[in-house]
Amino acid sequence: MSATAREVVLGVGAGIAAYKSCDLLRRLQDRGYAITVVPTPSSLNFVGAATWQALSGRPVATAVWENTHEVSHISISERADFFLIAPATADLIARIAAGRADDLLTNLVLASDAPIMIVPAMHPQMWNDPATVANVATLRSRGYTVMEPEVGRLTGSDTGQGRFPDTSAIIDRFDAITGNIRDLVGKRILISGGGTREAIDPVRFIGNRSSGKQSMAIARAAALRGADVHLVAANIDTSTLSGVTVRHVESAADMGAGLAEEFASCDVLIMCAAVADVKPVHSVVEKIKKSLFTSIELEANPDLLAELGARKTGQVMIGFAAETSNLAESARSKLVAKGLDIIYVNDVSNGAIFGKDTTSGIIITRTGADIALKEVSKDALANLLLDHAIRQLG
Ligand code: C5P
Repeated sequence: MSATAREVVLGVGAGIAAYKSCDLLRRLQDRGYAITVVPTPSSLNFVGAATWQALSGRPVATAVWENTHEVSHISISERADFFLIAPATADLIARIAAGRADDLLTNLVLASDAPIMIVPAMHPQMWNDPATVANVATLRSRGYTVMEPEVGRLTGSDTGQGRFPDTSAIIDRFDAITGNIRDLVGKRILISGGGTREAIDPVRFIGNRSSGKQSMAIARAAALRGADVHLVAANIDTSTLSGVTVRHVESAADMGAGLAEEFASCDVLIMCAAVADVKPVHSVVEKIKKSLFTSIELEANPDLLAELGARKTGQVMIGFAAETSNLAESARSKLVAKGLDIIYVNDVSNGAIFGKDTTSGIIITRTGADIALKEVSKDALANLLLDHAIRQLG
């Protein structure tokens, strides 16, 4: 399972409803799912690979014989958290029930133990045929979710049970399986991330080891939960983020300006960035010659979080700290000094945390008991902090 539990294989069978899955794919992406489309070869008669590639932004294969060096049926199934097969024809349902592996999609289904949801669409007579009824029962007995097709008009003049359900009905059912919680809809979350750089000259700067991974994990989790997310990103590559408004900044002063503009309209501020404590008094436009580069005169940067804390009008404020000793005590005094509701203190002893996908530390709130975390994923911490923020928002 991927770290964020949102990697989905969208399997597409050879039904006319395949065109409706183009919209389904878009709506799933809006909800934060990352989608790899795997059409059956005959479904390409309805919607071609180019459409799926353009919509998903990912390569599309139908047979195990494509991209053989990547062993796609193993690599894609290992990455997938969930399968959604929509539309599923009677033939595709029969092949899955029989355990066949005669195209890439059925290979993936066999090679994965991720939850699978199937959305059948076919002529009512095929749906009601004893063979299909038995195959559906087999799949349900194996734990697959098989949606009931809708009753209504079919592509021809017939009516009956066989229609592809509404996109919203499919998504509601799928969200229930994936546990996709949408509890931040209508909330604006402002996040800072990365490490600021304070220019010495055009070549050199004072920086720090922050990778920005934690801020991106929070941004991703908040977007997935429906928030309007704004990330002020200091020197990080945010190209993998979608559904997040990103403002790139370099120095503490740039970050302060960016946050000041956004703060009044946010509900939650999560100050994850490592802001340089000091900056050179003089930043020069010409590169300083090596022989003259012997010392740097420094001055303190303003404390951005403390400044925003003084302007707070009901925002929930979450800070981060990085310590090597006396974690809880020093974090608690920062919580009070900076007017925070919650602080997470990273244990950065022995070079841990920076650049990693996991974190160890303590969540400290004003009223609750401290929560110690050991080697949890940065995604898990992101969701825990968002849970706390929601509680504070009431
Ligand atoms: O560096 P310190 O331990 O004080 O950082 C605690 C919190 O304050 C962090 O959330 C950090 O982003 C923020 N901070 C800030 N401006 C600074 C220094 C830290 O906003 N100049």
